[in-house]
Amino acid sequence: MTELTHQSVLLEQAVDALVTDPDGFYIDGTFGRGGHSRFILERLSQAGRLLVIDKDQEAIEEAIGLQEQDERVIVAHQSFAGIEELADTYGVSGKVAGVLLDLGVSSPQLDVAARGFSFSKPGPLDMRMDTRQGQTAAQWLAEASEEEIANVIFEYGQEKFSRRMARAITREREERPITDTLQLAELIKQANPAWERHKHPATRAFQAIRIFINSELKDLEKALAGIVEVLKTGGRMVVISFHSLEDRLVKQFISRQEKGDDYPRDMPVTQSQLNPALKRVGKPLKADSGELEDNVRARSAVLRVAEKTA
Ligand SMILES: C[S@@+](CC[C@H](N)C(=O)[O-])C[C@H]1O[C@@H](n2cnc3c(N)ncnc32)[C@H](O)[C@@H]1O
Repeated sequence: MTELTHQSVLLEQAVDALVTDPDGFYIDGTFGRGGHSRFILERLSQAGRLLVIDKDQEAIEEAIGLQEQDERVIVAHQSFAGIEELADTYGVSGKVAGVLLDLGVSSPQLDVAARGFSFSKPGPLDMRMDTRQGQTAAQWLAEASEEEIANVIFEYGQEKFSRRMARAITREREERPITDTLQLAELIKQANPAWERHKHPATRAFQAIRIFINSELKDLEKALAGIVEVLKTGGRMVVISFHSLEDRLVKQFISRQEKGDDYPRDMPVTQSQLNPALKRVGKPLKADSGELEDNVRARSAVLRVAEKTA
């Protein structure tokens, strides 16, 4: 039987970097199964508060269970892209002590075949984190043009055989609808002429379709901009990324915020007049060898921390 737990990545490192004020208001934008949230709560006083967000119904059920045991917890079932509006709702805009994002999918999402995320488990081709809205992967693959499918697989999967894969998908759908995970995995596998060792040939294409279906990068971009607005001076943003596209977005965002306003190069302005909004804290962290042995998901994880400056 599948064990529906999620082994949190970079747990201590993330929470150490995040919690600087035990009485503060914190936001965990990716509750999952609450590994990070429970650890944050251990560091907070009775005056501290933790708003937890997730798009996923099952994650939210777990969060409500935690809220019933701990009145410091507030639960929001939505995307973290709406963090700014959510902070307004709770009257904490500009007052938040820290925001954590532990991106991507949780192990239960991958492990439950019926969610349709996995290329190795038979299930309906869904892939939505929020099953209340949006198109399933099957609906999108039935309607998108071959070019659109190729572009998504290339852009979000960095897959060089994206065109062949998109062609295989459109050919298959002329014969029969593409409705399940193994059907899609198999046809992508056949379209991939260069299998890598220890990697399923559909890995990148599945990742790409998942990122697209859940607008993962767009949500992240919006959330980062919102986080700068909701943090108080000295408040921390901690982000754990699992692939290079996410990490690059986070890294470039922090760099831009560190530089501040754009002035012509020859204008005599000092660094502080540029109004930088963030400064990075420490170097990007990766899991150590102990954690890597225990948890394969930690392999690609990168943690970045930044602090609101003004
Ligand atoms: C890696 S898991 C988080 C695990 C969690 N830190 C733990 O220790 O249990 C990522 C979670 O973020 C959620 N998620 C991903 N993108 C989201 C978004 N845009 N808005 C809200 N939740 C999101 C997923 O549904 C998933 O439950």
